[in-house]
Amino acid sequence: MKAFLEWRDDWFLGIGLIDQQHLELVDLVNRIAASLDTSQQPFANGSDAMDLVLKLQEETRRHFRDEEAFMLEHDYPARVSHHREHALLQAELRVLIREIEAGKRAFDLETLKSLKHWLIDHVIDSDQAIARYMERR
Ligand SMILES: [Fe+2]
Repeated sequence: MKAFLEWRDDWFLGIGLIDQQHLELVDLVNRIAASLDTSQQPFANGSDAMDLVLKLQEETRRHFRDEEAFMLEHDYPARVSHHREHALLQAELRVLIREIEAGKRAFDLETLKSLKHWLIDHVIDSDQAIARYMERR
């Protein structure tokens, strides 16, 4: 079965730890999608998916911390704005979680799609810039 979020090899940064953590986050998004019973609208089994979203939140926090340590270690010039983007992403996920928990937001395809873009747009747009910087060094 096609994964909800298919990893593409051109998303690899060539930085072992960060690539590994990105794969784990993608895997978590796919497990969230797989855990939802999409035969119903809004999707059922939200509670299992919610446990996985909270795990995604925790893993993302750990990942951002490690990525920022890497940027500091390698004197990455855009690390301050990159950190700000991480903080914004974490705030967005907190809002999404709070809305689902409050019943203000359904755990539907739109919510899944926003989780997918929440992760992948950052990896493609911002994290790739770290790889380009490392290549130039
Ligand atoms: Fe990042």
